[in-house]
Amino acid sequence: MYPELNGKHALVTGAARGFGRSIAVRLAKEGCKIIVNYRRSMADAQSVVDEIKSMGGWAMAIRADVGKEDALDKMFEEIKTELGYLDIVVANAAFGVPGNLFSATPHYWDVTLAASARSLLSLAQRAVPLMKNNWGRIISITSDGGQKVIPGYGVVGPAKAALESITRGLAYELAGKGIVVNGVLAGLADTKSSRSIPGADKVIEHAKFHTPAGRIVEGDDIANTVAFLSSNEANMICGQFIVVDGGRSIMG
Ligand SMILES: NC(=O)c1ccc[n+]([C@@H]2O[C@H](COP(=O)([O-])OP(=O)(O)OC[C@H]3O[C@@H](n4cnc5c(N)ncnc54)[C@H](OP(=O)(O)O)[C@@H]3O)[C@@H](O)[C@H]2O)c1
Repeated sequence: MYPELNGKHALVTGAARGFGRSIAVRLAKEGCKIIVNYRRSMADAQSVVDEIKSMGGWAMAIRADVGKEDALDKMFEEIKTELGYLDIVVANAAFGVPGNLFSATPHYWDVTLAASARSLLSLAQRAVPLMKNNWGRIISITSDGGQKVIPGYGVVGPAKAALESITRGLAYELAGKGIVVNGVLAGLADTKSSRSIPGADKVIEHAKFHTPAGRIVEGDDIANTVAFLSSNEANMICGQFIVVDGGRSIMG
């Protein structure tokens, strides 16, 4: 537990399910007030809010497609009205239609890059003016698809590469304001998005067998690392990605 997180205001994008849900609940356990961002899954987002409230915490769901600038403007207006300021942003949401990169249309490129990469910059541009007392955290979630080829990952790979570059750029530009920017590079987990990649069953089975830790990643593994990166113990970690994959990436 990190006592300094008690009472902090956190926005978690794509928090209705998967990693985002685990991150939202974990930060709520630390005593953070949580904005549960979602795009379509209203009922799931509400169930995250209900779970946090049942623990005695504070949470509110706000709908916004993070790839749309006007939707982000509206969400931040609501955040300003409800909370006044913001301390932590977890850029977790990502969107991409699985398939071959070679077949990607310009439209698919644009929406994927907007939701999965540009959104980090857009969130930071709106969140930083709401951060106060020389303290803030911005945390992105990436995969090894930013550096390696994952068959069927399509445009999400290039989007993750851009997301990682934006993370480093923001880390450099915001460090002087006490805003610590880092990322988590997550290994494969069994979530709706990973299940949408062609051949997911086989890939998940293969990963289970070839992960030294003996299992694939779960939401709490990522949430624990996000909590650490949010804490003051991460004050001097700047523009880095912590790999959370049970050792999968050290294997040949
Ligand atoms: N699962 C893995 O194996 C894995 C591995 C490495 C990294 N990651 C990364 O971890 C993050 C979370 O992935 P996940 O596996 O937990 O996915 P998931 O279970 O499919 O959840 C994704 C969430 O993102 C939301 N979302 C998608 N597009 C959005 C948009 N444009 N605006 C706002 N919210 C949006 C979805 O909300 P709606 O349902 O409301 O649209 C959903 O709640 C992603 O960045 C992903 O790339 C995942």
